[in-house]
Amino acid sequence: MRKDSAIYVAGHRGLVGSAIVRNLNAQGYTNLLLRTRAELDLMDQAAVASFFHENMPKFVILAAARVGGILANSTYPADFIRENLLIQNNVIDLAYRVGVSRLLFLGSSCIYPKLAPQPMKENALLTGSLEPTNRPYALAKIAGIEMCWSYNRQFGTRFLAAMPTNMYGPNDNFDLQSSHVLPALIRKVVEAKFLGQGTVVVWGSGNPLREFLYSDDLAEACTFLLNLSDAKFDELLGETDPPLINIGVGEDVSIRELAQIVCEVLGFEGTLEFDTSKPDGAPRKLMDVSRINALGWKAHTSLREGILLSYESARRAGVFS
Ligand SMILES: NC(=O)c1ccc[n+]([C@@H]2O[C@H](COP(=O)([O-])OP(=O)(O)OC[C@H]3O[C@@H](n4cnc5c(N)ncnc54)[C@H](OP(=O)(O)O)[C@@H]3O)[C@@H](O)[C@H]2O)c1
Repeated sequence: MRKDSAIYVAGHRGLVGSAIVRNLNAQGYTNLLLRTRAELDLMDQAAVASFFHENMPKFVILAAARVGGILANSTYPADFIRENLLIQNNVIDLAYRVGVSRLLFLGSSCIYPKLAPQPMKENALLTGSLEPTNRPYALAKIAGIEMCWSYNRQFGTRFLAAMPTNMYGPNDNFDLQSSHVLPALIRKVVEAKFLGQGTVVVWGSGNPLREFLYSDDLAEACTFLLNLSDAKFDELLGETDPPLINIGVGEDVSIRELAQIVCEVLGFEGTLEFDTSKPDGAPRKLMDVSRINALGWKAHTSLREGILLSYESARRAGVFS
């Protein structure tokens, strides 16, 4: 990417999109195209077409999506499949129609089968049954990968799907009704500390193993991928396999360990209680990140450091007041 290339970051106010914008700004990219959902509803095909034809982006990072944790996914399954399919269909198709040079489609590790061999390699895609609680979301994302691959084969586009593991960081969603596990734990611990409560209740058994990537590390990986040489980028697109690359840390922790780390970092000395009536989800979800590591990129923010940065940014934004 040249420093003045027109780069469209879809979803630039979200956890992922805002980190990507911070990274691009810090690296001196000067021509970012940014629209809120109120300015451009990506489910509106005509509006997306006008936007692309008027602005002619050269690079697209698709970080706009309907996203949420187990509760949101199981309460609104129809919204999750419909909104994600519409957003990605419109953006991927218009990117092809205006001749975008490279597109990065962001998915998630839930595209892999519930019982995929660990760590999960890119070739685990479609080798088994999905975790039922977020199947509609996962299927939409799988359709997005297939769409990138199909457009690459039929039209010669360079569309790559990047699958990040669980993420956290500034601008995360701390609403307990729809948040992911780590921001939910941060909020619960902050509130318990403030209210002087002795116990924090954690959903599930605490046994599942999960991996957590700090959003600024992911953003760095996205810029790194979009800046690969044509030869290396095309190698990732391949022909016989989907154009897919995992982005993660390569290490996981149990939810119990994670909750303990949150308590330590935020200085909460009470106890943890595990509500086993709540679902656990998949037993383990660890990404195999050997592909991106071999290209020369590695995550570097530690969990403790990231949790503190994430908490401080939410506190400054008034999330806990
Ligand atoms: N969070 C994670 O742990 C995680 C993990 C792996 C992968 N990912 C992937 O990363 C991507 C972004 O996730 P995120 O966590 O950053 O989500 P997020 O914080 O909820 O942000 C989503 C963004 O999408 C935008 N958006 C949603 N619907 C839209 C629509 N109809 N039209 C235009 N914009 C719309 C929102 O815009 P407004 O702000 O204007 O409303 C928001 O900026 C997703 O594809 C997700 O699958 C996330």
